[in-house]
Amino acid sequence: MTPAAGARPLNDASSEPASVPGALLTRVRRAIGEAGGWLPFDRFMAMALYEPGLGYYANATPKFGAMPQGADGQGSDFVTAPELSPLFGHTLARQVAQAMQATGVNEVWEFGAGTGALARQVLDALDALGTPPARYTIVDLSGSLRARQQATLATHAGRVHWADRLPPRFEGIVLGNEVLDAMPVQLIVRLGGVWHERGVALAGDGAALVWADRPTALRPPLEIEGGHDYLTEVHPQAEAFIRTLAEHWTRGAGFFIDYGFPEAEYYHPQRHMGTLVAHRAHQVDDEVLERPGEKDITAHVNFTGVALAAQDAGLDVIGYTSQGRFLINLGLVELAQGADPRERSRMQMLVLEHEMGELFKVIALAPPASAGGWTPIGFAQGDRTHRL
Ligand SMILES: C[S@@+](CC[C@H](N)C(=O)[O-])C[C@H]1O[C@@H](n2cnc3c(N)ncnc32)[C@H](O)[C@@H]1O
Repeated sequence: MTPAAGARPLNDASSEPASVPGALLTRVRRAIGEAGGWLPFDRFMAMALYEPGLGYYANATPKFGAMPQGADGQGSDFVTAPELSPLFGHTLARQVAQAMQATGVNEVWEFGAGTGALARQVLDALDALGTPPARYTIVDLSGSLRARQQATLATHAGRVHWADRLPPRFEGIVLGNEVLDAMPVQLIVRLGGVWHERGVALAGDGAALVWADRPTALRPPLEIEGGHDYLTEVHPQAEAFIRTLAEHWTRGAGFFIDYGFPEAEYYHPQRHMGTLVAHRAHQVDDEVLERPGEKDITAHVNFTGVALAAQDAGLDVIGYTSQGRFLINLGLVELAQGADPRERSRMQMLVLEHEMGELFKVIALAPPASAGGWTPIGFAQGDRTHRL
């Protein structure tokens, strides 16, 4: 998905109340009450996306698809790279094959597998390359997607497993496409020179959700030049996820693909509206408090934060570049030869700068035992690790 920048005024902490029916809203209201009238935004986002049975990724709505209205009459909200074109996973599989060989592992672990499309593409291509992995394990916070993944992966059933948590020690090639952006963020806003944490409260009548700010000791990782009002996000959960990964992971290499920037761009003084947005029916908006559970909510990834969290936890950063450069290094263009015109135009969306090619980045991490003596093909040219 390719979200746009939000357009909400920074000082609208008492903005128009969102009127939203539904069981999840009732739970959010209760949580606000139990928290003393104010819920930090990351807690709201966690409920809106993952509240069991009700959150956006925990309920049964279709979500993923190329069109707002599918052939079955059911709508989708956004399209991701593997949903757009199988060439995405077929190309990534070349990287997986090289990494398996270089690090001596024979397993893949995918986090946040969505419909299972990427898993199927990677497994199909690894089989065709003559490098089938012994196991492919999916870890997803969303239990409701598991049935869909099982159906997508029926032809690979014997090798695909699901895990609710990481084992004490594991090895393998780690994949995560658009997972880090789905992890709850904290919102912070500088108003009149004073930093506040932005959270969620109830409107005067107790019915609707409104923004509410409280002074905070939280700060962005970089000082923001200028005294202007400034809204942004910090990403403790994504960074904690990387640290947890590091604690359990002994061998292999990992590739996380998502939209985002290094911190100098993320916290640029001009990016004063942050990156938080909602997605519904292929529309992007900044009404993230509206219709909780019915919209995806997402923020861009601070790749410098990911890299520092990885390094602090003992992992090595072995590559960072744009999605376009990564896929081209891996031979996407050559793989697309012979594809029909529709497939070729979708392939172009993956790499063109004004589509997904530049906004999306790939970061590669590895435990120290697997980091030296090889260069992942995806970063052979145009590696930007030095810009993190
Ligand atoms: C935007 S979807 C991307 C799905 C898929 N990778 C794709 O590209 O189509 C984000 C997925 O990440 C999952 N997710 C979020 N946080 C996670 C975590 N900490 N561990 C595993 N999965 C997570 C969500 O449940 C959801 O399935």
